[in-house]
Amino acid sequence: MGIVNTKEMFKKAYEGGYAVGAFNVDSIPMCQAILMAAEELKSPVILSISKGSREFMHPGNIKDMLSIVSKDITIPFAIHLDHGTSFEICKDVIDEGFTSVMIDTGDAPFEETIAITKKVVDYAHAHNATVEGELGPVADIKGQDPIYYEFTNPELAKEFVERTGVDSLAVSVGTKHGSRKFESKESATLRFDIMDKIAELLPGFPLVLHGSSSISDAILKVFNDNGGKLNGYIGVPNALLVEASRKNVCKINIGTDFRVTYVGALRKSLNEIKDRFEPRNFLVPARNAVYELVKDKIVNEFNSYNKAI
Ligand code: G3H
Ligand code: ZN
Repeated sequence: MGIVNTKEMFKKAYEGGYAVGAFNVDSIPMCQAILMAAEELKSPVILSISKGSREFMHPGNIKDMLSIVSKDITIPFAIHLDHGTSFEICKDVIDEGFTSVMIDTGDAPFEETIAITKKVVDYAHAHNATVEGELGPVADIKGQDPIYYEFTNPELAKEFVERTGVDSLAVSVGTKHGSRKFESKESATLRFDIMDKIAELLPGFPLVLHGSSSISDAILKVFNDNGGKLNGYIGVPNALLVEASRKNVCKINIGTDFRVTYVGALRKSLNEIKDRFEPRNFLVPARNAVYELVKDKIVNEFNSYNKAI
């Protein structure tokens, strides 16, 4: 199957009660690890590329590089722009062959967010790409001054989806970007009631969770035992993500877990191997470490195992 947009992928995920993992990548070995893991487990997957990663990976060539790397891959996968901040960057990556974009207008007022998102949707749909909108803490449409909600308001989400035509929506239901996602591990929880309310208002409509790394002690240990210094991390407990993926959450974003695992394994091999200088001696363990991470999440978190057959 190879490179696809997210339309069919999310429809199947919604109906099948599972989610598709979206991993933040910035190099070909990272993409290879994800594609190898997803192919082995017959799972759909998303390669998520931020503005900075796109610049590093060479704008314009990413689709071609991935087409070559994935010539033996049969599972469906999307090439996604993560946190696109303007119409222009969304348009550029669609022109370059990305099949999915996220438009993230930051703190822009509700009406402005709708206008920009709609413009992205019109362009994307005319080019067979899909769009993820965002409605986290948003301005109250009725207020003169913006009033920010801590969590996504389901009624506004419905209005936003209907007026923009987005294909999926990133919601604020408890996950967060950054290292410390909750006050403590014990207090970690997600607003399943908001997910359920949105499912009631928008049946069949896929939601996206950002900031969903679990940041386990095991991942941090490899990183820190090899000269790293990451402290104070509290991630999202696996059980909460399992429950969300059974509901209307169809895409789960994993950046921190993936990057800390990759760099942790690199640190380890650089520490351990003293008499070699071929880059692959260090990159292969890093690639293997994230390959195992992706497989683990496909089976134990997203439940997307064997869904691409
Ligand atoms: O857009 C990327 C993700 O939201 C990353 O979240 O750092 O918790 O993995 P994370
Ligand atoms: Zn994000």
